Amino acid sequence: MWQSVATEWASLIFRWLHVVAAMGWIGSSFYFIALDLSLKPGQGLPDGVKGEAWQVHGGGFYRIVKYLVAPAAMPSELTWFKWEAYTTWLSGFVLVIIVYYLEADLFLVDKSVMDLTPTQAGLFSFGSLVLAWLLYEAACRSGLARHEVPFAIGGYLFLVGLTYAFTHVLSGRGAFNQIGAIVGTIMVANVFATIIPNQKKIVAALLTGQTPDRRWGAAGKERSVHNNYLTLPVIVLMISNHYPLLFATRYNWAIVAIVLALGPVIRHFFNSRHAGKPSPWWVWGVAALGMIAIFLLSAAGPRDVQTGAVPAKVDFAAVEEIVLTRCSMCHAAEPVWGSITTAPKAILLDDARHIQRYARLIGRNAAWSNAMPPGNVTEMTAAERATIAAWLATGATN
Ligand code: HEC
Repeated sequence: MWQSVATEWASLIFRWLHVVAAMGWIGSSFYFIALDLSLKPGQGLPDGVKGEAWQVHGGGFYRIVKYLVAPAAMPSELTWFKWEAYTTWLSGFVLVIIVYYLEADLFLVDKSVMDLTPTQAGLFSFGSLVLAWLLYEAACRSGLARHEVPFAIGGYLFLVGLTYAFTHVLSGRGAFNQIGAIVGTIMVANVFATIIPNQKKIVAALLTGQTPDRRWGAAGKERSVHNNYLTLPVIVLMISNHYPLLFATRYNWAIVAIVLALGPVIRHFFNSRHAGKPSPWWVWGVAALGMIAIFLLSAAGPRDVQTGAVPAKVDFAAVEEIVLTRCSMCHAAEPVWGSITTAPKAILLDDARHIQRYARLIGRNAAWSNAMPPGNVTEMTAAERATIAAWLATGATN
């Protein structure tokens, strides 16, 4: 009991920190990208200045100039932007441990996908995270990333391939979190292992009166462009656990492939606008088509295909029997499932009245998707899901 309560609060504290840090990080990174794009060459600017921008905010005007690569001498005070990124990763990693590693049997493993022990799943998750980052890092350092378009296509196929693989090893929810964690790790590592160290080299060169190497600035900029295009997809992956139709339907990996493509396309709209170019309005047409495709793909239903016929008219008694045998061990006033101490999300599925009341939620989580039972721990069958779907289709009466 106490352990369960403690992890619940730890989960809240770290999620709170994670979301706030991520807002700070994304806010400042979008701000700087927009600022960079809006810089205009001006008259009478100091030597070494690439451009200036005027902005108005909080009751005053700002005149901002950007030195490329650096001013002639070190300023006496310099603000760095890095703790937003580091805090996001550190709190996110603790959260992964609390939610996915400590409760791997529910949220990381799905025995009907692959029969892993929680330890195996945890090691797989951590190992593939490190490996995927190393591969990305090697690709960038080898100079491949300088060929922007082939690198973007290669990177995209790499992430889609990983997603396909993860959805065939872990639970849908675990796989989505895993791919999000990999993208997030790549982004933070870009700050930690390239952008900031290069910035420090530039500062060190200035302090000893040398001219900083332009390549240091260029490498940092390259990684920051990658981060810009990865931001929107990672957000969808991180909130996907609230959407059973997203992570727990048959073509969940194809949905991720669409999201990974839509994010950069939408960023392109804002990047063009901030650079003062004509706005590419077609972006919203593509975004709408992508969302329609996601909608249709999610309608394919749960992962396991139902073979055999489902009766056109389903008795409520049959539905009640299924829910009581597959759900009520957790969703009851006094759950009997090991690690569950109170009904999850206060949802009771222990009698006919409750089942009626939560009919649509049961549909989204267990009939039109396989989000529940988590990791399919109570071994609900495709035929049972189809039976509930048929009951819902005929008006969910009793
Ligand atoms: C092993 C225990 C367990 C079983 C069995 C189980 N659930 Fe759950 N259920 C959970 C947990 C844990 C959560 C909270 C998930 C989270 O934190 O995101 C949950 C959440 C839910 C939610 C709320 C989702 C939301 O929108 O937040 C619904 C609805 C639900 N379950 C329905 C079902 C149905 C229907 C079944 C049977 C087919 C079922 N559950 C079986 C543990 C269980």
